[in-house]
Amino acid sequence: MIPYKKLLNIICEELDIKKGEKILEAGSGTGNLALEIKKRGADVTALDNIKIALEMHKQKDNEASVFLWDLTNNLPFSNNYFDKICSNNTIYTISKKKRDNLIKEFYRVLKPGGKIVLSNIHKKFSPKKIYLDHIKYSIRYYGFLKTLKDIFLMLVPSLKMFFYNFKIKKEDKKGEYDFLEKYEQKELFKKAGFINISENKKVYSNQAILNSAYKK
Ligand SMILES: C[S@@+](CC[C@H](N)C(=O)[O-])C[C@H]1O[C@@H](n2cnc3c(N)ncnc32)[C@H](O)[C@@H]1O
Repeated sequence: MIPYKKLLNIICEELDIKKGEKILEAGSGTGNLALEIKKRGADVTALDNIKIALEMHKQKDNEASVFLWDLTNNLPFSNNYFDKICSNNTIYTISKKKRDNLIKEFYRVLKPGGKIVLSNIHKKFSPKKIYLDHIKYSIRYYGFLKTLKDIFLMLVPSLKMFFYNFKIKKEDKKGEYDFLEKYEQKELFKKAGFINISENKKVYSNQAILNSAYKK
């Protein structure tokens, strides 16, 4: 399976989704993960601060429950509201100063006994490794010629991806962008009062770390 699709599946497995559960996806983008969660029977709230991303999500699923909100503010939900919360590749965009408060907010809106799953690329991640893994799987499943055609068709977006990645990494070095340290999610959970914090699970071609935890 291609790395991104595999990652979404792992997050869904970790969430251990039950029909009808209220799940928040924080930083839902165009809705790929939220759609996978919904397919498994949950009632998903997809939150993002980019209006166009939420509109694209709505184009994929016009009944999607989307919420335009900035995660650097306190969450607009009452205490103990969600059964589960997940967030993929989002909190690394939030400054370290604001991360503590966000995780505390996740704790507040989660029901007692509720589960949270966070996955984020880490400080030393390499987009090249994810890209090469993608190519490897594509050759195995779709064959060499189709893969070559896709590489050609996706050349411009792929080059853009590497370029922006390079820029982001440069900003990270200047301290303007805060990728997570490998231990950081566990620490954030601990500080916010979560229990049963899982050990690090390497996901996304080993370029991201996934942790889960529970509210008391
Ligand atoms: C890399 S995308 C991940 C999308 C989705 N979670 C997935 O797995 O496909 C990160 C998303 O986080 C959102 N995001 C970043 N900072 C945010 C903030 N402060 N508040 C809300 N959303 C934010 C971005 O707009 C973007 O859609």
